[in-house]
Amino acid sequence: MAEASQEPRPTSAQPEPYPPPDAVGEVLVTEAEIVRRTMEIGAQITADMKGETPLLVGVLKGSVMFVADLMRAIAGPVELDFLAVSSYGAETESTGVVKILKDLDNEVTGRHIVLVEDIVDSGLTLRYLMSYLKAKNPTSVRTCTLLLRQGDHNKDLEVDYVGFVLPAAFVVGYGLDARQQYRNLPYIAEYTGD
Ligand code: IMP
Ligand code: MG
Repeated sequence: MAEASQEPRPTSAQPEPYPPPDAVGEVLVTEAEIVRRTMEIGAQITADMKGETPLLVGVLKGSVMFVADLMRAIAGPVELDFLAVSSYGAETESTGVVKILKDLDNEVTGRHIVLVEDIVDSGLTLRYLMSYLKAKNPTSVRTCTLLLRQGDHNKDLEVDYVGFVLPAAFVVGYGLDARQQYRNLPYIAEYTGD
């Protein structure tokens, strides 16, 4: 296909650095650490679900990278579904409201479900989705999160598979966003924008 002709660029123009250093700070979990831990959790789920076909339920959009890699780390039959929820709106503060924007495609009665989150903070989203799924009479519901924000605010919460425990910082990358941006970073970094 012929390329559209382009105006020559001024030679002095420098490409903008990406991610912008004033918005994305310290890398808290590297790409290699994510790969290693995902393989470990995948092996654990493989062992725990031996003889079963678990249904991974990724919570859109944040868990998209993690659930895709986790699924490839499971050495056995496995199926995939998604739920989309909105709890934070466009802001970085929780509104405490969980709304289902996209429901499951699969029938889950009698299934072994693994609910896959990107990050658990207050645990509000996870608790809500657990009771939502349990009401559909699956055989079991397990929970898996790549990241767990450390603190007293969620110490009573039990998550079956946890990738990494993180400090208080708001983070982006590997699916996690700040106002829909930075999901494409292959690592988890502190968000330092406003
Ligand atoms: P919770 O309901 O307070 O546990 O919040 C969980 C949801 O909030 C996650 O699924 C994320 O979508 C979002 N969230 C919480 N902390 C962060 C963060 O540091 N970066 C990006 N999204 C976050
Ligand atoms: Mg989000």
